[in-house]
Amino acid sequence: MSNPPASAVEVPDKSLLKAIGDRRSIRYFDPDRTVEDWKIQTMLQAARLASCQGNINATEAIVVRKDETDLWDEIEECVSGFNVQIINQSSHLIFWLTNLNAWYGRANDGLQSVALAGGVSAFHGWNYEFTMTQTVPRLMSFPTERTEILLRFESGQAVAQSMLAGVGLDVGSILIAFGRKPGGIEQAFGLPPNYRFTWGHAVGYPLESEDAGGQRPRLKFEKLFHKNSFGNPYVPDPAVDDMLREKEMIQPQGPQPGRFEEMDAIARRFGRDEGIIHWPAREIRRLMADDDWDFGPNIRARAEEVLAMGDLPEYPDEMRETFRNLLAEHNIDTSKFLPDA
Ligand SMILES: Cc1cc2nc3c(=O)[nH]c(=O)nc-3n(C[C@H](O)[C@H](O)[C@H](O)COP(=O)(O)O)c2cc1C
Repeated sequence: MSNPPASAVEVPDKSLLKAIGDRRSIRYFDPDRTVEDWKIQTMLQAARLASCQGNINATEAIVVRKDETDLWDEIEECVSGFNVQIINQSSHLIFWLTNLNAWYGRANDGLQSVALAGGVSAFHGWNYEFTMTQTVPRLMSFPTERTEILLRFESGQAVAQSMLAGVGLDVGSILIAFGRKPGGIEQAFGLPPNYRFTWGHAVGYPLESEDAGGQRPRLKFEKLFHKNSFGNPYVPDPAVDDMLREKEMIQPQGPQPGRFEEMDAIARRFGRDEGIIHWPAREIRRLMADDDWDFGPNIRARAEEVLAMGDLPEYPDEMRETFRNLLAEHNIDTSKFLPDA
């Protein structure tokens, strides 16, 4: 389907702070709505304009529509089971790729392009001879494993920008794992060996309400950010939080009223199972008592409601031992995460 590009005056001017606040991982797409090509292009432009080391442009993408590709069955075989429904209701899939050869092949040209464009100068110590005899050869000598870590980081930046550009245009996004068949996507598209398939991204118009049930909880700010030294909590100023609430970057936390009814109604409409998954009562209580999390009243009320409903599962026996071993392998205090009965 082709859509005329919008003229600039018709394009919404959502503020960046609100776009960050509005973003959710959208898991219910309207299968009857196609995202306009100009919006997809805008998302890709946002990725293209993301910062990248030495301007090497390592992030590429393949945009796929179910009704325009011969590869859908292969794609579906590779996506993790809990994402199958998502891809089939989405409008487009974006396969984000990281080209490792950009590092080795384009470092020289990328840096020159930044110099010619007026980005770097002698002021910062850049010097052609040093760059050619030291900096670029050192970068180009990195083993591919190291390059891969560096470049996937910047692919992440590009993808994040593209998702936010989508939100700015009311387009929903979710990143989705393709863990069912490792290497399957690379094979389906016949990617050259220097390309990594970094992540899958489903795009579409949300079927769920605009707030998708509310912002998802995160750890507390001061549990994530440190001031001047590691372990010194960076305590946020409540006045800043209030301002960010006013700008709608920080939004009411989920679940918002009617969220579970909304999810059940969508499930009924598509003949899917209703309901959600629950954790054991002890696990719910333990999580709600964990001071690291920034849990607001809605999620706490929901936890109480779930506890009151009862009929909750117990730990599967094998899970306790498996988790204990895996946590111990990483020297993580198992008593916090796996309290004894
Ligand atoms: C790299 C990455 C991969 C993800 N993979 C999946 C996935 O395979 N399936 C899924 O339902 N959500 C996936 N998510 C979404 C997260 O679970 C999501 O970030 C989480 O639900 C928090 O909610 P929010 O994104 O709505 O704020 C992924 C997120 C990221 C950043």
